[in-house]
Amino acid sequence: MLVVNTIEELQLFFEQQKGKSIGFVPTMGALHKGHVSLVEFSQQKCDITVCSIFVNPIQFNKQDDFTNYPKTLESDLKHLEAAKCDVVFCPSAQEMYPNKIEKDFDFGILSSVMEGEHRPGHFNGVAIVIERFFEIINPDFAFFGEKDFQQLAVVKEVAKQTGFNTKVMGAPTVREASGLAMSSRNLRLSEDEKIAAANISSELKYITLNKTAFNPQELKANYRDKIDANPFLKTEYIEIADGNTLLPVINWEDSDYPIAFTAVNVGEVRLIDNMTIIN
Ligand code: PAJ
Repeated sequence: MLVVNTIEELQLFFEQQKGKSIGFVPTMGALHKGHVSLVEFSQQKCDITVCSIFVNPIQFNKQDDFTNYPKTLESDLKHLEAAKCDVVFCPSAQEMYPNKIEKDFDFGILSSVMEGEHRPGHFNGVAIVIERFFEIINPDFAFFGEKDFQQLAVVKEVAKQTGFNTKVMGAPTVREASGLAMSSRNLRLSEDEKIAAANISSELKYITLNKTAFNPQELKANYRDKIDANPFLKTEYIEIADGNTLLPVINWEDSDYPIAFTAVNVGEVRLIDNMTIIN
């Protein structure tokens, strides 16, 4: 497995591999089985898999979250080696952004609901880094987790708006045995917080199984009550929205693809999760 820090080294490698299909898995490191599953999908579909590790400063809307983002490079490289990743690209911020970054994407509703509403500027920062990676790597396929469902929708839009031929692929959320969605930020949870955080997935699950008994408003209110009754948890939002448009579902008849989306603060750590509601 090749590990490179510069665009020049990466492009030299690509020149030696001409004609092969390239799969790309962008990450911010602190890798877990969710990331590894994306590398495995890429391995199955493409000749060469490139994984990037870059904690993108411009997508953090809180300085604390950026400063405290976990960094575990040595173990990340071991995971990637075991998953048979071909190249790891770990650029510096200077390598990624040699010039002043000025671009304002328009994602319409995507950037004004849920994560868009609660993390101003976040998706613009994600879009800029993804466009830059696509420019450097020009992958045939890029793999993203449905854990960040709204990000996946934004990235599909970036590919469309910027005209890259990269096919953006979604992959299912990988969970702990407790149901907790795997996340790099879970490394920042205490044992008690981790136990409490498992309620996020069990309460989402309750929503997905109770469509016939309750309307969306009732299920959202119940979720908030249950989560906020736990002293370690505080709901930031719970939304039921259509998986295609991301518009809120007021009546079940409004959508044939409803998904429950949530962000919950667990102590200092903000976690997100979502689950598709069974018809
Ligand atoms: P990061 O949080 O490191 O996630 C990298 C990729 O792994 C994303 O596509 C994310 O959706 C996916 N992922 C995270 N947890 C997952 C899980 N439990 N199951 C399956 N996939 C999971 O998302 C980012 O980094 C950044 O915003 C990035 C796209 C790299 C741009 O900077």
